[in-house]
Amino acid sequence: MEQLIEQLKVILGTNFGLYLKSHNYHWNIEGKDFPQYHSFLDGFYNDVWNQSDDIAEHIRQLNAYAPGSFSRFIELSAVEEATTVPDANTMFITLKADNDKYIMQLRAGIVLAEQAGEPAVSNFLQDLLGAHQKKAWMLRSIVK
Ligand SMILES: [Fe+2]
Repeated sequence: MEQLIEQLKVILGTNFGLYLKSHNYHWNIEGKDFPQYHSFLDGFYNDVWNQSDDIAEHIRQLNAYAPGSFSRFIELSAVEEATTVPDANTMFITLKADNDKYIMQLRAGIVLAEQAGEPAVSNFLQDLLGAHQKKAWMLRSIVK
């Protein structure tokens, strides 16, 4: 159970890292396809943001406290923060790699939830996995 709780914290930190980077890119992206990119990123960061509360509340359901500070999220996140403004294609390549990192953490969480006998947590993470596999297809199609 402890491993599952720790993994959910990593998933929450990674979620927040992916959220902040995609919102940052939404603000700063440039190029001739700006309207489509800006709109796609709007949907992306909102989807990711809307997952964070449920992830944190699953940690609470397992009787642990949810992390909620920038310093802790930086420690936990598998996604590095964005401190520069790259060109649009580099933004999407970066987001594709970061989305893949989130997928890896979700997969690890599903395995641990199954091992811990927590099917509801596994089911929740499977839904997130499916949503982000769809995003992986979209990001792959943008950068091709
Ligand atoms: Fe906006």
